[in-house]
Amino acid sequence: MFFSRQLPAPLSVLLFVTLLPLAAHGYFKVTAPTKGIEWANGQTYPVTWTKGLLDGVDFVDLELTRMSTDGLILVARDVPSSTGGLNIALNSVPAGDDYFLLVLNSTHGIMYATSQPFSIVDSGSSNSSVQPIASKPTVTVSGGPNPTAQFAATFGSSSGAVRAWHPKPAAVLSACFISLAMFAGAVAVL
Ligand SMILES: *[C@@H]1O[C@H](CO)[C@@H](O)[C@H](O)[C@H]1NC(C)=O
Ligand SMILES: *[C@@H]1O[C@H](CO)[C@@H](O)[C@H](O)[C@H]1NC(C)=O
Repeated sequence: MFFSRQLPAPLSVLLFVTLLPLAAHGYFKVTAPTKGIEWANGQTYPVTWTKGLLDGVDFVDLELTRMSTDGLILVARDVPSSTGGLNIALNSVPAGDDYFLLVLNSTHGIMYATSQPFSIVDSGSSNSSVQPIASKPTVTVSGGPNPTAQFAATFGSSSGAVRAWHPKPAAVLSACFISLAMFAGAVAVL
């Protein structure tokens, strides 16, 4: 094995085992919002992610949800994953300290990633200084969860150059869990 010349054998095996699932099954991580950050109503905040290049996830749907209450706030549909992010402008979204962002295919409920928990506060009281990213589109989200609401914005492909990719949901879910477990393992070790 390549690593065996530079590294002690157990470490090289470990690296191989931990890195392989990430590369093979897709790596998707929400890099903003970060844990504990506050978003204030009336302001605009960046959402960003990084992902594996060849995982076949070309589009994603974004939703906001809370741990303590049911309901989804539908943010954006069919966002090209290659954009790496967008901005969310908040308008009268209920305050809470247990929000997180879901990155998924909402058609099948296949989850690709979630953000760490963060807060939404009433206007003017945020402790966050993060600025929206000027080069990214901005989606305005108004109000709380509403079962009849549509996505606040729909993107999608105008080129039609979307690769067909139809995995079984169970396969993707297990791949996600394996990747997460491996990632956690890698972080714990490194
Ligand atoms: C903002 O406040 C929360 C607690 O309300 C804290 O966890 C977080 O670290 C703070 N963030 C900044 C940027 O000060
Ligand atoms: C979700 O999956 C369906 C069917 O596989 C696909 O048509 C749709 O474009 C996907 N949505 C996103 C956001 O990728």
